[in-house]
Parts: sequence; C-alpha cells; structure tokens
Amino acid sequence: MKTLLTEKELQAGVHDMAAAITQRYGDRPVTIVAVMTGALVFLADLIRQLKMPIRISLIQASSYRGGTEPGALWIRDDMMLDIEDRDVLIVDDIFDTGRTLHAVSECLAKMQPASLASAVLLHKEGCQVIEMTPDFIAFSIPDEFVVGYGLDYRDLYRNLPFLAALEPADLIEATTVQE
Ligand code: IMP
Ligand code: MG
Repeated sequence: MKTLLTEKELQAGVHDMAAAITQRYGDRPVTIVAVMTGALVFLADLIRQLKMPIRISLIQASSYRGGTEPGALWIRDDMMLDIEDRDVLIVDDIFDTGRTLHAVSECLAKMQPASLASAVLLHKEGCQVIEMTPDFIAFSIPDEFVVGYGLDYRDLYRNLPFLAALEPADLIEATTVQE
C-alpha cells in the first residue's frame, strides 16, 4: 500500500480543523455525534484539541458490506444522547458519495438540534452524488480506496497511524488474512 498522509500530516490537519471549529463555536457547548466505526481515531484526536464543553454521542452507519463497493446504507441510532436544542457537530471519517453524511444529517435533523454542522477528515474528490458539502474538511484526496487512521477494508487496517491507499496486492493479502 502507498502512504497518502503521514501521521504528522494527519495531526496538522486535525489541529487546523480544531481551530476552525473553535472559531465557529467559541466557548459554546457542542454535542459531537461521531459516525462509528470509521470516525473513532479521528474523534479521539479531534476532541483533545477542543476546549469548549463537549458531549460525545455515537451513531453507527455503514454502507460498505466488507469490501470496497458500497452496499445498502443502514443507520443505528440507539446509542444517541438527547440532542434537542443542542449545537450538534457530526464527525465522520470520509465524505465519498455523500450518502452516509446526508442520511445521518436527515436522521439527526428530526431530533430538533439547535444547529447541525458536519466535520469530515477526508473528502474524496469527484465521487459525490449528493448535493451537500461538509462544513469542515481536513483533507481532499483523490478517488482511491484508503485505509488507516480509523478507516478499514473488511474491518482491517483501522489501527494504522497513517492513511494509505490500497493496491491490488493488498486486497488479496487482506482476504488471505481473514481466512
Ligand atoms: P459515502 O456514503 O459514500 O459518502 O461513504 C462514506 C462512508 O463509507 C464512510 O463513512 C466510510 O465508512 C466508508 N468509505 C468510503 N470511502 C472509503 C474508503 O476509501 N476507505 C474506507 N472506507 C470508506
Ligand atoms: Mg463510515
């Protein structure tokens, strides 16, 4: 696999995003809704750069059934905190087609937050099928399947501290590891 973003580059991107989020909310309390499982590592780094009071809520969304091709989208919101009248920031790993963030936003909007914004670590260029732009984006990347820093291929590679693009040989290897 080839490295797209090093650990240091990722940290710098998260740091800059935290500054932009702080500029927007100041000292106001924010409820973060993290989209599991891909947002896990990004969430942990981002919240430690934020100084305002933070509540953390989890929602689960998945459109990838094991491989690199999106399948049907499902959302599980039974671990949600009450977000009514709260300033809510959705945190996700990557904005690809945009379907996940759009569906999560629709789901949360029904819970009547005071405001709703979104922050994504990565924005995949040229893949969007939904007219929506996340409010905060740390990095734009080319249309490649990436892993590491929370992102997976068949639930593997989330623990890599850097972001890498998978190459054909990695797909074969990952399959072998699972068997
Ligand atoms: P979207 O609904 O097409 O925008 O896809 C967003 C979700 O798909 C993300 O939250 C990721 O979990 C997953 N995803 C999209 N692209 C990649 C990738 O390159 N690597 C790993 N997961 C991805
Ligand atoms: Mg995801």
